[in-house]
Amino acid sequence: MDGFLEMQNLLSEYQQSHLLKYSGELTESERKELLEQLQSIDIKEVLKLYEKAQTSAGENKICDSKMRPVKVEIEKDLNESLLNEYFSVGLDAIAQSQVAVIVLSGGQATRLGLPYPKGMCPVGLPSGKTLFQIQAERIRKLIKLAKQKTGQEGRVIWCLMTSEATDLLTDKFLKQNKYFGLPKENVKLFKQHQLPCFDFDGKIILEEKDSVALAPDGNGGLYKALKTSGLLKQLKESGIKYVHVHGVDNILVRVADPIFIGKCIKDGIDCGAKVVLKTDPKEPLGVICQIEDKYQVIEYSEIPPETAESKDEDGQLKFSAGNICSHFFTLDFLERVSNDHEDSLGLHIAKKIVTHVGPDGDKFRPTSPNGIKIEKFVFDAFVYSRRFLAWRVERGTEFSPVKNSDVSKTDCFPTARRALMALHKKWIESNGGEVKGGAVEISPLLSYGGEGLEEVKGKTYGDRDVLLADEERADDSPTET
Ligand code: UTP
Repeated sequence: MDGFLEMQNLLSEYQQSHLLKYSGELTESERKELLEQLQSIDIKEVLKLYEKAQTSAGENKICDSKMRPVKVEIEKDLNESLLNEYFSVGLDAIAQSQVAVIVLSGGQATRLGLPYPKGMCPVGLPSGKTLFQIQAERIRKLIKLAKQKTGQEGRVIWCLMTSEATDLLTDKFLKQNKYFGLPKENVKLFKQHQLPCFDFDGKIILEEKDSVALAPDGNGGLYKALKTSGLLKQLKESGIKYVHVHGVDNILVRVADPIFIGKCIKDGIDCGAKVVLKTDPKEPLGVICQIEDKYQVIEYSEIPPETAESKDEDGQLKFSAGNICSHFFTLDFLERVSNDHEDSLGLHIAKKIVTHVGPDGDKFRPTSPNGIKIEKFVFDAFVYSRRFLAWRVERGTEFSPVKNSDVSKTDCFPTARRALMALHKKWIESNGGEVKGGAVEISPLLSYGGEGLEEVKGKTYGDRDVLLADEERADDSPTET
């Protein structure tokens, strides 16, 4: 077969001959597919990346002696008039169609182990809404609030970064659900790139006899994908100036939060990150710190325990700025990173479960990490910021991620549901209503952040009640088909 011998030689040169181990058992077309896949991978380049990732992992460990805590601005310490001012600036930017949102939804969610993208999963809320639906509806509500304030109907471009693992299903799901009421032309899917997975000895893993295990290149694949997909250019041409980038899995995410956006605009920030107060050094949350005047996030797995546990004179963790993957970027900043720095972004090694050909030749999924994925992280671009903001928000109002399966009891669907409904209960109580029986859900189309709930005054809500906006009650909302 054309090219087979060359491939054999190339793989042997780089000690990867095992990738052809089963080639003798394959049909002609399977052999062709495998060869084509191998030819599409720049073996020399990916092995270089593997080496580089190993070296960066070592460097990160050395860095910890240079880590300094970052200065954090705390939202709840600001007076109401300043917060209102930021809110107003943020809404103006939305009304002027200057804001886009990018949802990082290319992850494989290996800890959760779902057969489909996280954003599509019914969270178990009384309304049956998924993370994607909640996020899209928050945007729709903001557009309304901005219109009420300015008289101008802006558009927010909702971009979803997908991967080979999530793209088709996400696309189909959004179409089926009519983009949850957002105009189709304002919803953009773009795909991140992928890299081969390695075993712990640096060998590329075969997922099946005729295919290599590939994985998305981490959420920092954003910068390359923005450029190669043409999205960066499109956003620029559409007049976008500010971008909110967030992880798909935080049920409380304040999508395109006008306060955060307004604060960043007013202060001329090019790169901002929301943080929550980290109180448990073992919590799997990276911390933002400064290393030689550059802002960086050090992943929880990369901080030595004594550094993670060190305290300041107030008895608080010294490194307490927990990064929640909710970032503000100017489009100029994204452009600069994508064009000038993408190649120099750090590489990380993530030890993950990788499905591979088992001893009997069948596909096998281990129960504990057996492989390495090379990933770039979105926050590694912080080092290129010229004016950075770490903005501390309240955990109970802004952060409850879904990372693990329900059995783990932390950062899972039940904890996320409870967090959302506890927040909504608070909103009802602070508007003079009462909740009996604990759980109540408020549609994002009715309230973005606790506003506009005058109707609850003097009322009592029962278990699993859902408060809907008029447009939903009228039953003209997009429904699943
Ligand atoms: P996580 O690091 O939690 O990864 O991603 P994950 O894929 O969701 O879950 P595990 O670790 O495999 O269990 C944080 C955010 O970054 C996105 C995820 O979708 C999530 O929103 N992400 C992660 C990407 O968009 N691309 C990637 O390659 C990796």
